[in-house]
Amino acid sequence: ASPVTGNVQSGLGFHPVDKSLLDDVLLPPGYRYSILHATGDGMMPGVAPYSNAGIESDDWSGRIGDHHDGMELFYVDDKGRYSAKATDRAVLCVNHESSADAHFLHPKGQTSAGSTGKKFDQFGAWDLGDRPETEVIKEINLHGVSIVELVREGNGWRYRVDGSLNRRITPETKMLMAGPSDSLHQINRYMSTRYDPTGQSSRGTLNNCGHGKTPWGTYLTCEENWARYFQITPESAPLQPKQIAALKRYGVASQPLSKDLKKAYSQGWHTVSSKDDRFARWNIALLSASPEGDFRQEANTFGFNVEIDPLEPSSMPVKRTAMGRFAHEAAVCAEPKAGEPLAFYMGCDSVNEYIYKYVSEARWDPADVGGGIRVGDKYLNDGRLYAARFNADGTGEWLELTFQDPKIQSFGGYRFSNQADVLVHARLAADAVGATPMDRPEWGAVNYRNGDIYFALTNNSAANRTPAKVNAANPRAYKDPDGIKRAGNPHGHIIRFREQDVRSNAKVFSWDIFLFGAEEDDPRSNLSGLTAANSFSSPDGLWFSRATGICWIQTDDGAMTDESNCMMLAAIPGSVGDGEKLTVANSMQVGSEKLDGSQETFVGATLGEARLRRFLVAPRGAEVTGLTETEDGRTLFVNIQHPGEKTPALGGKDQFSLESAWPGNQGYGQPGRPRSATIMIQREDGGLIGL
Ligand code: FEO
Ligand code: CA
Ligand code: CA
Ligand code: CA
Repeated sequence: ASPVTGNVQSGLGFHPVDKSLLDDVLLPPGYRYSILHATGDGMMPGVAPYSNAGIESDDWSGRIGDHHDGMELFYVDDKGRYSAKATDRAVLCVNHESSADAHFLHPKGQTSAGSTGKKFDQFGAWDLGDRPETEVIKEINLHGVSIVELVREGNGWRYRVDGSLNRRITPETKMLMAGPSDSLHQINRYMSTRYDPTGQSSRGTLNNCGHGKTPWGTYLTCEENWARYFQITPESAPLQPKQIAALKRYGVASQPLSKDLKKAYSQGWHTVSSKDDRFARWNIALLSASPEGDFRQEANTFGFNVEIDPLEPSSMPVKRTAMGRFAHEAAVCAEPKAGEPLAFYMGCDSVNEYIYKYVSEARWDPADVGGGIRVGDKYLNDGRLYAARFNADGTGEWLELTFQDPKIQSFGGYRFSNQADVLVHARLAADAVGATPMDRPEWGAVNYRNGDIYFALTNNSAANRTPAKVNAANPRAYKDPDGIKRAGNPHGHIIRFREQDVRSNAKVFSWDIFLFGAEEDDPRSNLSGLTAANSFSSPDGLWFSRATGICWIQTDDGAMTDESNCMMLAAIPGSVGDGEKLTVANSMQVGSEKLDGSQETFVGATLGEARLRRFLVAPRGAEVTGLTETEDGRTLFVNIQHPGEKTPALGGKDQFSLESAWPGNQGYGQPGRPRSATIMIQREDGGLIGL
């Protein structure tokens, strides 16, 4: 563990930032930011400068991707190896999550080949025409992970376009499928496609959202909303009932083919060519006459934590199937203790999904630090996977997902075949054992000072969190006459738990709710006593500073964007069990539906402005996500994702009304279209961030 340089007990030391609708990053007085890199910047020698007009014709694999998300810094020693201690050379891994704003990357937005401007509305209205190859290749390769070398320059850092450790990982990069030694051969059968009929490898990673850093110094990138990229078209092979149950539970949609699956359209990547596997693979049930097989199982190869060795550019990334397959948000490792198993905490970010824990069979040996991806084989292949149940009395249990469990063997919703099936369909296994459905588990984070684990539960919709469907850990179902936008649990909350005896392999834990998101002027939702200095909605990114002990909270969209862009707040955390009983007049419903007049009691913190303050407000339309720091706590790296998200799809026009022009409007790169970016935040006096 790093030395503690700051003392969070001294309190937050900055002036809170007001809510803002301006198109810039706003920080407290005495702080400044600069941009490390933005969407489209070159990260290989010889790549043409980014035009920001959509005219690039390269395949994007030499450029920084789009939708910057989870990230982590790895120091490099003078021999080019991983260093647990700070040096002047590092690599920064950044996830590139989504192509939801891909219209900015083409001259006239997303189009169909030869069309006169048919509108493509991602994940929604697209329904005809074939996509042009150039657009699709760019959209595929803007995903994945960028790894760039950083060098210290004065008090700051810059990235090297020609860094020898620079690497771009995309949906086309070859990956190894790894898993438990006794069921890997069965897992491989689920992964068999024309790309690798043995199922031992797969092509690429997709929708990389949160992340994790392993104690031995590798990067975990988490595959989240991969299901939306696939299409099942009318000419596809008939689906078996078990296959339909699995696709349905994971949200893979079809065109009107099966009444059992949701009708929706992908971005049409498969339409470029059914002969070229780079495109055909996205139509997952397309039957092929090829003796090598087809892509009916292609979607099985996504939904994992992928381990990457950032200091070995030639190493093959490894998908760790033992950690389960779902919509992985972050993978946070509890502080390792020598001689004890390692625990990784993972969220599955969809409405009413679960929180999971993976516990390694192997016990931690500090001599493994710096051992690279081979060490991952030791800790991340053989272990136990659990889903969390939160009880109403403030205790919780870890429910193991094992084929040995009669509840899994006799589950009515899906007939499991073996342990490989349990891991590949972990959501269904968690259904079978009765895990607690949560309000969209986003990032987890560990408080390094006491071992408490925090999870952001970003929000839930009115349809999925009704008064009849609340539970103690997700207690709010808001009925608001103002309308659907603020019904359900629109502002989200942050839950935290402590393992029994702070042991990684504990089977039980205690929990409470840390904070409820709210608008400060709405007494019905403002349970945590928020004020104008710290009100927030829809917590998403969550991260603890080792240097200062601050708990950083980042938000995504949510129900407050009419009064403020998304934001980042600093909190002084306290610990599980120190929450207070909060009472509120009933309009946030608990249990069976009740009408106004009664009172409801919740446990939660009221931190006040002394312990919770807004630190940053983002440009228009952006979410704030991804956070890491230099070891001294004096440079904070933060990702600004999808500025201008609400700009309408271009629909074949070259002129359009931008919601945001950041960061071009602040002097970075070609002005014009908005771009995601990694920013570096420092105090003007060089001091610790936040204190
Ligand atoms: Fe990619 Fe759950 O945010
Ligand atoms: Ca997120
Ligand atoms: Ca989110
Ligand atoms: Ca978002």
